[in-house]
Amino acid sequence: MFNLQRLLVERIESRILVGTVAFLLIMVLVGWIAINEGGRMKAFEEQYTARSIERGAVLFMNNCSTCHGEDGRGLAGIAPGLNSPYLFGHDFFAEINAEVATLTAERDAEGTTDARKAEIDARLAELETERTNLTTSLQTAVAAGYDPAKGTRLDSVGWSSTLYNYVYTTLIHGRPNSGSYWPRAMPAWSQTAGAALRNDQLGDLTTFIMNWDKGDAWTVEDANAVRQYPRYPVDAALAAPGADTIGVSTDIDTIMTELANFTGDSNNGQSLYNGALGCAGCHTAGVVAPATAGTWTRAQTERLTDPALAGYTAEQYLAESITHPNDYVAPGFQPGIMPQNFADRITYQDLADLIAFLATQQ
Ligand code: HEC
Ligand code: HEC
Repeated sequence: MFNLQRLLVERIESRILVGTVAFLLIMVLVGWIAINEGGRMKAFEEQYTARSIERGAVLFMNNCSTCHGEDGRGLAGIAPGLNSPYLFGHDFFAEINAEVATLTAERDAEGTTDARKAEIDARLAELETERTNLTTSLQTAVAAGYDPAKGTRLDSVGWSSTLYNYVYTTLIHGRPNSGSYWPRAMPAWSQTAGAALRNDQLGDLTTFIMNWDKGDAWTVEDANAVRQYPRYPVDAALAAPGADTIGVSTDIDTIMTELANFTGDSNNGQSLYNGALGCAGCHTAGVVAPATAGTWTRAQTERLTDPALAGYTAEQYLAESITHPNDYVAPGFQPGIMPQNFADRITYQDLADLIAFLATQQ
């Protein structure tokens, strides 16, 4: 008679077979779970982001809309739009600019034939027409303060880290100096700065703002819908702050924004360094403090390769070293030796001059 038990379990070949099949089944099951785990994690993350956006939306309505508008497109004369292609780095003129640059280089290169030059000139003329048409279509934005020559917001303020960090840092510290070119300054919001919101709430707000990004899909209509574009302290009608005010911001972000308005004079920087500010006293010999010689090269080849300074430019590193010496302590040296109060003793012009002088130390 046919005996299943005998066939499957008692014969050694059968036992091996059952074992192998069972093993394979378990592997398939484990694999299935592993594959779906990714999906579940993603769904979880999406839910998490969605909740963060929702919480951010409520916070925005309650705290920000009075200055930045309920739709985030800014309010004329009050505060710049955040729901704006300009903040998100969409440069409507980038394609035209890139083609003009390539063609101009080709035109000026040796060996370009006259026939090709004529072709290039014809195309350059076309591109200029495109530029004029595009500028005309952006007139409403231009009237609200948009300046095509300024590229993108982050470029214009020299910010080299991410937009997320830019927004988040702005929320933490505010822009204490912006009251000099806006009716009311952008306030600081973080509890760490003595204000009302927790850092996780600032995270929610930042996630909410980042969700306005349209990537490559920003349109001219979006640009024209923005009611107010950023102002720059250097604008003729607005007083340039800090040119002769002693003391710079304590916030490195604000410092970099303001510094963009000053051109450093390395000779003046050198005399401040050797004279009035007494930097040379510690820095010349390279014993108590890193040597003056090579400061710029060191910043670029050694400091900026340190992960702790990821995203920094050399200027930003030097500005921070001078105004917040303890934030990053040069390896091999002691914290707390360099005076911590230069930020209160110098003007933005002094800082720009010092950086210009240190930039010559290559
Ligand atoms: C009292 C008015 C006011 C309020 C309230 C306000 N802001 Fe601002 N905000 C400003 C001004 C003015 C600026 C421009 C500062 C500058 O030009 O440096 C600004 C700048 C910003 C920027 C940087 C924009 C850029 O292009 O550089 C962000 C991001 C921002 N605000 C977010 C917020 C958020 C989020 C809130 C609510 C928690 C908020 N603001 C509340 C006035 C305000
Ligand atoms: C009393 C001594 C002292 C004085 C005065 C001083 N520094 Fe320093 N400085 C230091 C020390 C110590 C360090 C290294 C520790 C650190 O990074 O904070 C340093 C670091 C630096 C760095 C970073 C250098 C590197 O290689 O990464 C810069 C830039 C700098 N100082 C600029 C200045 C300038 C500009 C002045 C004058 C406005 C000045 N220091 C005045 C002691 C001094």
